[in-house]
Amino acid sequence: AMVRSVLDGRIPTPLPNVAEEVLVIRPAGSAEAAAEAAAFADAPGESYPALHSTPVMGFNTWNAFGCDISEDLILTIADAIVQTGLRDVGYTYIGIDDCWQADERGADGALQAHPLRFPRGIKALADEMHAAGLHLGLYSDYGVRTCAGYPGSYGHYEQDAATFAAWGVDLLKFDRCAPTVDQDRHPARYFRQMGAALRATGRPIIYSLCNWGRSDESEGPPWEWAPAFAHMWRTTTDIFPWYGRVYAILQANAPLAPFATRGAFNDPDMLEVGVEGPFLNVPGLPRTSLTESESALHFSMWAMLAAPLLIGADVRSSPSWVLDILGNPEVIAISQDALGRQAVRALDEEDGMFLPLPLLEVAALVLPMLREFIGSVRMCLGSCRKVQVWIKPLANHSAAVALLNLGDQLSDSRSSFGPETIEVAADVLMEAGVQLGTTPYCVRDVVRRRDAEVVPEGGAVRREVAPHSHELLVIRPCAPPPNALPLFSS
Ligand code: GLA
Repeated sequence: AMVRSVLDGRIPTPLPNVAEEVLVIRPAGSAEAAAEAAAFADAPGESYPALHSTPVMGFNTWNAFGCDISEDLILTIADAIVQTGLRDVGYTYIGIDDCWQADERGADGALQAHPLRFPRGIKALADEMHAAGLHLGLYSDYGVRTCAGYPGSYGHYEQDAATFAAWGVDLLKFDRCAPTVDQDRHPARYFRQMGAALRATGRPIIYSLCNWGRSDESEGPPWEWAPAFAHMWRTTTDIFPWYGRVYAILQANAPLAPFATRGAFNDPDMLEVGVEGPFLNVPGLPRTSLTESESALHFSMWAMLAAPLLIGADVRSSPSWVLDILGNPEVIAISQDALGRQAVRALDEEDGMFLPLPLLEVAALVLPMLREFIGSVRMCLGSCRKVQVWIKPLANHSAAVALLNLGDQLSDSRSSFGPETIEVAADVLMEAGVQLGTTPYCVRDVVRRRDAEVVPEGGAVRREVAPHSHELLVIRPCAPPPNALPLFSS
């Protein structure tokens, strides 16, 4: 089928340039939230140096290893990150997720490392990371216990922040398991307190907030309040290595583009490229993984979303196609683009038979995770056609364009539907604010890393895309006049 792109929403206008030295403060939502955020930002001693104006890149233990972690694991993973060249393309944050802690706090009330898994403690590990040109990430929880049942930070925020700073931790992931009743009602208040405690240490520590995109009655979803004090915030419950899950998370993040900005990003969870694991992350359920083309689509779209790029795979034994996807410098450049904008979905077409929404509501009572499919994803019954185009504004007068043939998320990619021809016409790009002017534009295929066609004025880019596959292109005017307007107009 030939698809003609129709842009239904405009690309948000560019944000004013923000100094590199300050973390972007971007209050959203209610006037009250805005006032609170502004007051927080202005509080003496709480100004925060910019840690990272682009999405964080690194590794995290959770997807491949769960609680099966150790000092040796971190050291050998770090070594592989260096040896494979992944460090040098930007993956420097080596994150230890849950289960690094001892069962109880020490006599002084401080968190301590698990004596068998991390016998030399966390500081020794942080020192080794820093010596290797890497950073160390660590995990805790805003409530009484972590999700895996270790001591949470509740009642100890200042003490734990000071401990992490003293150990040389560079990133904290802060989860939302085991809350008190008050915490459950006012999560933003508590997440903000930990942000303040981290700032008060004086050590630049990236703050990664994990409340699964939950919206609480009084405070709204995290993208409305977290940008004021966190570098990134999770937008959904956990990812797992199955195409339908990656698909659902991608759809859930489409409406969130306006909330991402330099230094503050939506977090659609970590990368499942090269990971194999049980369905729904439930031990004992059948193990799943992504195909090579699904993995490439996942990676490209996380770059388009300006998402943190946190490798989940055991890179010590990853096949070369996994390392090639993760290491593609041109996709990484899209992720790390200086504008820090999240791609918008410019086309979303689907045909076929879908599960009626009321049935989905009932199913979600049994399996709450299904809730995330509601409203953002229609579950396909049998054979469905789903074609999308996403556009991400880039600095330097260019834009990234992703053409997706998503197919139905539940069936095998080859059996029930075929390739799609997807076309993006010049007027669609113009409508999106791309200033193509009267020059031809040059297309770069960033997946295959080669120059593609030159499209004449008024022309279109067209690709045939296989099911569960994508094309990722960067377009720019071939010859911008010396006094060219920014590619994206305001
Ligand atoms: C939660 C988070 C996961 C992981 C686990 C650890 O489920 O969403 O990303 O950190 O806790 O227990």
